[in-house]
Amino acid sequence: MKKVLVTGGAGFIAHHLIRHLLLNTDWEVTSLDRLDYSGNLNRISDMMTEFDKNKQKRVKIIFHDLKSEINEMLENNLGNFNYIIHLAASSHVDRSIEDPLSFVMDNVVATCNILNFARKNNNLERFIYFSTDEVFGPAPKGINYKERDRYNSTNPYSATKAGGEELAVAFENTYNMPIYITHTMNVFGERQHPEKFIPLSISKIKKNKAVTIHSDETKKIPGSRHYIHASDVADGCLFLLQNEKKISKIKKDFGGAKCPKFNLVGPEEINNLELAKMIAKAQNKELKYEMVDFHSSRPGHDLRYALDGNLMKNLGWIPKIDITERINQVVQWTLKNDRWLK
Ligand SMILES: NC(=O)c1ccc[n+]([C@@H]2O[C@H](COP(=O)([O-])OP(=O)(O)OC[C@H]3O[C@@H](n4cnc5c(N)ncnc54)[C@H](O)[C@@H]3O)[C@@H](O)[C@H]2O)c1
Repeated sequence: MKKVLVTGGAGFIAHHLIRHLLLNTDWEVTSLDRLDYSGNLNRISDMMTEFDKNKQKRVKIIFHDLKSEINEMLENNLGNFNYIIHLAASSHVDRSIEDPLSFVMDNVVATCNILNFARKNNNLERFIYFSTDEVFGPAPKGINYKERDRYNSTNPYSATKAGGEELAVAFENTYNMPIYITHTMNVFGERQHPEKFIPLSISKIKKNKAVTIHSDETKKIPGSRHYIHASDVADGCLFLLQNEKKISKIKKDFGGAKCPKFNLVGPEEINNLELAKMIAKAQNKELKYEMVDFHSSRPGHDLRYALDGNLMKNLGWIPKIDITERINQVVQWTLKNDRWLK
């Protein structure tokens, strides 16, 4: 039976990944998290209620802040892993602008600590570092960034994620470790932090309040993203772990660089106004909204991000469910479980 360590397991995406692993594998999963303002063990316990005792027993919870090294005692407690999937990070852009150094600690120093632990792991088959589309900066209309395009961080959050990526590349080159990097776009799903656009919109529409739509300076063009459901991100991640042979054949396409990178992209590009309308429709409500020029007044926020998903598509992976169905599913679930809106 494979053993997998998921860092940031009490976070939003990682708890969906744990659920996906329980549903689709017989692996033993260890979650490591420090439970900060965005980490919430209730996510894991809530999600686990859908599983029987045998599946629940496959999950082990470890508390640790990765800013500190993994010492010998914790090392012994954790044991060896076949896979390590590193999602723990600070990810709030505004917070990174207020306090960049704490992001260096959480996203670069912490990545070095988990890589150091991983390199002592005798059974390690794959380490996956979860990065973001934001490392490429804003995407002009018509441009979708490929995995090996130039980086252009517009805020400390993205710079520290890019820093973590480069450490992962260095560990593969220096220590010959098997590492992949993924870039993911805006992720949504059940139990997301209520400050994020989709849960916030669900909540505002439910209360008949106006939704703020971030736009350009003319207040006519809304920002856009390729939104992707967290279960699809988890599915893409598992696909990478289960298709090593296929991937090794395309290694020549990485321009000689080791440490393959993969964009996990949502099914279609959608602007924030269309998205808010979808959320309103799923609640049978009229959308009230206000376009706000957020991007020119606040640093670090970009109007459009876009990634090219062709590499994963050519390998045989795309998200299986379209965005309208996914949004509808999340709206209905959230309305029924509205404790997650508070
Ligand atoms: N949410 C998105 O739209 C998105 C998009 C692209 C990439 N990502 C990346 O995916 C990963 C997960 O994002 P998320 O939205 O689920 O974030 P999240 O904030 O919900 O979860 C992050 C988790 O990491 C934990 N954590 C943070 N610093 C830690 C440390 N030093 N030691 C131990 N645990 C620590 C937190 O307690 C939290 O539980 C991050 O690496 C993020 O950069 C997210």
